[in-house]
Amino acid sequence: MEESSDRTSLSQVRRVVLVLSGKGGVGKSTITTELALAFRHAGKKVGILDVDLCGPSIPRMLRVCRPEVHQCESGWVPVYADTQQSLALMSIGFLLEHPDEAVVWRGPKKTALIGQFVSDVAWGELDILLVDTPPGTSDEHLAVLENLRKHRVDGAVLVTTPQECSNIFSKGGGEELAKLTGSEFLGCVPLDPQLTQSLEEGEDFLQAFPKSATFSAINTIANTLQSRLEDD
Ligand SMILES: Nc1ncnc2c1ncn2[C@@H]1O[C@H](COP(=O)(O)OP(=O)(O)O)[C@@H](O)[C@H]1O
Ligand SMILES: [Mg+2]
Repeated sequence: MEESSDRTSLSQVRRVVLVLSGKGGVGKSTITTELALAFRHAGKKVGILDVDLCGPSIPRMLRVCRPEVHQCESGWVPVYADTQQSLALMSIGFLLEHPDEAVVWRGPKKTALIGQFVSDVAWGELDILLVDTPPGTSDEHLAVLENLRKHRVDGAVLVTTPQECSNIFSKGGGEELAKLTGSEFLGCVPLDPQLTQSLEEGEDFLQAFPKSATFSAINTIANTLQSRLEDD
């Protein structure tokens, strides 16, 4: 039974990439959203799995408001953020009747729901699936990783701010952290009020500001990530 649901949910997904951060508020959902848009503009079919129970913010960033979520035989049907149906989204927020309901899901029930959620989305064919994970090393976080591990994880993007790493790095903290952990430094996204505004309004920043430094930074990160995923 489990095997057949595995086949239908992630088997046609070419690459699964987790977006992680040590704590909330560092720009994880922002990076997830912008990378997804960059891949979409590059002609890829992209999915976002938003598992951040504390604050499912991707639907707002992509202006996908509280849709009706349907189930088919192979699971929850994702919602498309664009008319071309190249950006699919499934958010744990869609399944919560009230935005505040996340807080009453606790303990084993919450963990079980998340586990189920991860493997029960009928993605169909995707080039890349980005997973916006809950921050930290909570039970939910581990449940997401545990469940994805049963399938496949091809990579992870760690989002951090210079301040989060250590206060000895006033800037370049991400680069230092990459060196310390032996991972590849993908890039640095400037703090850009236009990006904040685009996210608040659910508009496509990459389409609206193609000449900005932030646009190039995001595109460079997306291209590097894409080429590393192809190397594998
Ligand atoms: N590079 C940036 N420039 C400007 N604002 C940003 C940037 N990255 C994130 N933000 C803003 O910071 C806030 C937190 O970002 P978010 O992506 O929701 O963090 P997380 O998912 O890590 O909790 C959001 O309001 C977002 O609009
Ligand atoms: Mg977030």
